Amino acid sequence: MTLGKNNPLRSVSWEKFSHLTPEEKVPLFCQENGWPYHVLIAQQFDRRLLDRVCNLATKTRKIAKTKGGMKFLQDLCSEKRAMLYFSQPSSRTFLSHYAACQIVGIKPAEVRDAHTSSEVKGESQEDSVRTFSSYFDMIIMRHPEGGFAEKIAWMLSQTDRPVPVVNAGSGKDQHPTQAVLDIYTLQRSLEKRRGGIEGSKIAYVGDLLRGRTVRSLAMLLTHYPGVKQYFVAPKELQIGKDILEFLDRHNVQYEITTNFESVIPDMDAIYMTRIQDEWDKPGEKTFDNSAYCLEPRHLGVLKESAIIMHPLPRRKEIPVEFDADPRAKYWRQVRNGMWVRAVLIMMIFDRDREIDRYYEDLMTE
Ligand code: NCD
Repeated sequence: MTLGKNNPLRSVSWEKFSHLTPEEKVPLFCQENGWPYHVLIAQQFDRRLLDRVCNLATKTRKIAKTKGGMKFLQDLCSEKRAMLYFSQPSSRTFLSHYAACQIVGIKPAEVRDAHTSSEVKGESQEDSVRTFSSYFDMIIMRHPEGGFAEKIAWMLSQTDRPVPVVNAGSGKDQHPTQAVLDIYTLQRSLEKRRGGIEGSKIAYVGDLLRGRTVRSLAMLLTHYPGVKQYFVAPKELQIGKDILEFLDRHNVQYEITTNFESVIPDMDAIYMTRIQDEWDKPGEKTFDNSAYCLEPRHLGVLKESAIIMHPLPRRKEIPVEFDADPRAKYWRQVRNGMWVRAVLIMMIFDRDREIDRYYEDLMTE
């Protein structure tokens, strides 16, 4: 079942929609069962939904281990087609979604270079996406403009053939699917080490002003009681006030600091990020982030039970000496991302209960 014309976004004018707060928009992105129809912002994910995604990702991973299981998965959404519309550079997020489509049997097609499309003939991006959407059943999109994916979701909802939209990175604003895979990675790693995410200390390090992954993850972590978040960045690249206000509204403890060295020994998870210098103004000098990089000597300072994460691509934030250390979880994030994205697609098309049924049979065999 997909919502089609019953999509709740349909009944809201653009004028009204564009003035809503993210929290007010959330119900407009949902299907009747409460699961997402569009995946656009981190605020859509509550604890129940996060737990469901994590649970399904683990089941899907296990099902995919056999040829029979893989065949079952590939039949789940085999009548569907997806368009991956990526107008910002991407290889891992693109491939992760591409592989996720393949896992659940959706046929993916890509639009990556607007210069080879009618956009060079003066067509607006909105018109291009609307035209392309006619050939597909869902759109997965990355765009340099914050809110563009929301605009497309609204626009398509007004047409005769609405299709779900997944935000695979919007400007400097949000990256909800990355944040969900980060939660899955945290949950899997911290469960073994300290019983769960609850009550842990998590530091984000680097360019927190323009890094959209941290912005989305900081919001998702509010659903885990007792987590303390540390924002470690130079003043000019510190996290936006809107995120801190969000944490205040949810009574979440946090600390802002410029001193990376001082937080390292205390953390349960350290989330490194690169400098997002593609947003620098022409001629602007790129920030020297040497003080916000891990060094081989930190291997001895970090807790034995801590984990290190990175949304990738990395530059010098994490030296290769860390790669073989059991605390390095950034490669695991990449793999988890594929499963989490496959799960989100199944949920959008309301196929997730088939996973529960297959898994139960598998366990009782
Ligand atoms: C991130 C992104 O694109 O926001 N990467 C990703 O999705 N794997 C982080 C980045 O580009 O630095």
